[in-house]
This record gives sequence, structure tokens and C-alpha cells, in this order.
Amino acid sequence: MKATMCEVLVLAEKNGYAIGAFNTPNLECLLAVLHNAERMDVPVIISHAQLHEPVAHLDEIGPVMAVLAEKARVPVCVHLDHGESLDYLKHALDLGFTSVMYDGSLLSYEENVENTKKVMRMAEKAGASVEAEIGVMAGRESEANPTGENSERFYTDPALAKRFADETKIHALACSFGTVHGIYKEKPRIDFDRIEKIRTLTGLPLVMHGGSGVSPQDYREAIRRGVRKINYYTYMSRAAVQAVRDFLSDETVIFYHDAAMAAQKAMEEDVYKAMGIFYERNHTVLESKRHCVGLTKSGEEKSEF
Ligand code: 13P
Repeated sequence: MKATMCEVLVLAEKNGYAIGAFNTPNLECLLAVLHNAERMDVPVIISHAQLHEPVAHLDEIGPVMAVLAEKARVPVCVHLDHGESLDYLKHALDLGFTSVMYDGSLLSYEENVENTKKVMRMAEKAGASVEAEIGVMAGRESEANPTGENSERFYTDPALAKRFADETKIHALACSFGTVHGIYKEKPRIDFDRIEKIRTLTGLPLVMHGGSGVSPQDYREAIRRGVRKINYYTYMSRAAVQAVRDFLSDETVIFYHDAAMAAQKAMEEDVYKAMGIFYERNHTVLESKRHCVGLTKSGEEKSEF
């Protein structure tokens, strides 16, 4: 069934785990993620990134995402990832997306706040949830991070994050603390104290971008400190590419759909392993001083978590 991001985050808060948010620019990705969520009986987020527009048009992949979410036996949030244009976000909401991320991280603080507030108003009308970003992360979803580098000067400032959360009243906060989009050239050095500080000051569920390629211990520690949504894509995609490569080395192959199935199977296995860690219920979770308020689907009632 379709669910908002707030609804699935409420479950993450209650159970002390993080929700997996997977980019799904084609049917194989979508099925790999949804099959695992149903198999493990957990809520999940399927995401379309604006930067994947040349790979899959929102108009085409959006309705497929919404129908499959509706049909699923577990709560599925249909999310727009890294929307940089307000029109694009509005279009996603019109197509039935239950959550949007506005990415104004490259703008000035004031412009980011102003646009995020506009997105909040749009989303509220549609009964959807909003994630926004403060601090900058290297790499973008459509490309492998060319350098794998990240610089502390782009990390999120906890005091500014609190101000941003108070001014915009968003439901989840994407922040920069040492992960990067794309392939890691070296082991990520995650600033866990920063995560905890931002979490305590804002009281919000935090989002880890660049989530694939992080070690199991680091996922666990990040979740313990307040990460409640983990965005994951590059490494599942890389697993699919490797599987297709191996499959095509057999020169007798004729049907494309067999290669697509090999890709889907590899992604299912990769996502299964990741979800096994994200949804562990034995993370010792630090208490947050403030409680977040999650909007229900109707956008009217409020629930504390
Ligand atoms: P990776 O592709 O590095 O896993 O990051 C995904 C992401 O952050 C999507 O917003």
C-alpha cells in the first residue's frame, strides 16, 4: 500500500531502524526492491531522482511506481529524490508521489529556506511529506562520483541545521557528514558526533545520502546516532552491471529479457544484504530530546513519534 515518508519514518522511529530508500529508474530496480520489502515484511521507499530524467521520464516511470506501491503488501513511500525545480516537484505530487525531496543545497541559505517553504505548502496540499538538504555532498545520482572525495568544509553545520529545521518545518533532513554519492575511492570517514549533534538539535529523522558502499558497522553506528533513511543506489546498480557482463560472456545468449533478469536477480541479492542491516531491530538507539511531528496521509491529524 502507498504510504507517506512520515508514515514510514514513524515506523523507523518506533523500531529503531532506518528505512531503505532505493533509486528505481527502471522495472528491474523496482521489482528487486519491492520483492525484498515484501519478503522481509518491512516498509520501504522507492525514489525517482530528477537527474534520472534522461533515463526514465517522470511521466512514464512515476505512474508505474505509484501502481506498484499501491499493490504492495507492505507500506511503500513513492519519493522524488533531489528535485531541484519546483515545477518538477509539483508534477511528481500531481502523479501521486507521497514524498518529495527539495535540493536547494547549492543555493544561498535564504533561497534554500524560501523555496523549501514553498515546497512544504505544495506538499501539504497533496498530503505528502518533505525532505530537504543543508550542507553539500560530492557527486550526483546520475554519475559515479569522479573523485570520491568529500571535504569537511561542506559538512552540515549543526546550528544552521537547527535553524533550517525550525524555519522550514520539514519532516526529514538530508545532511552532509562524510558520505558521498557514487563509488567510494577510499573508505568513507563518517563524522558520527556530527550526526548525533544534528539529530539532538533538530529532533528530525536524518537522511544518509550516498548510502551504498558504507560498511555494516558504520551503518549501525549512523542509525544509532539518528539516521532513519538511507539512500542507496550505486552499488546495487554496479552488482547488476557485473551480473549482465558475466551473463553476456556466454555467446549463445539471444534474449535481452534474460540479461534483464540476471540484473534483477543481482540487485535483489545486493539489496537483501543492505536491508538486512538497515532493518535490524537491535540497534541501541539514542533518545532524541525533541519529538518529531509526522503528518498522517490526510495531512490533517498529527502524530508524535
Ligand atoms: P549512492 O548511489 O551513492 O548509493 O547514493 C544514492 C543517493 O544518495 C540517492 O539520493
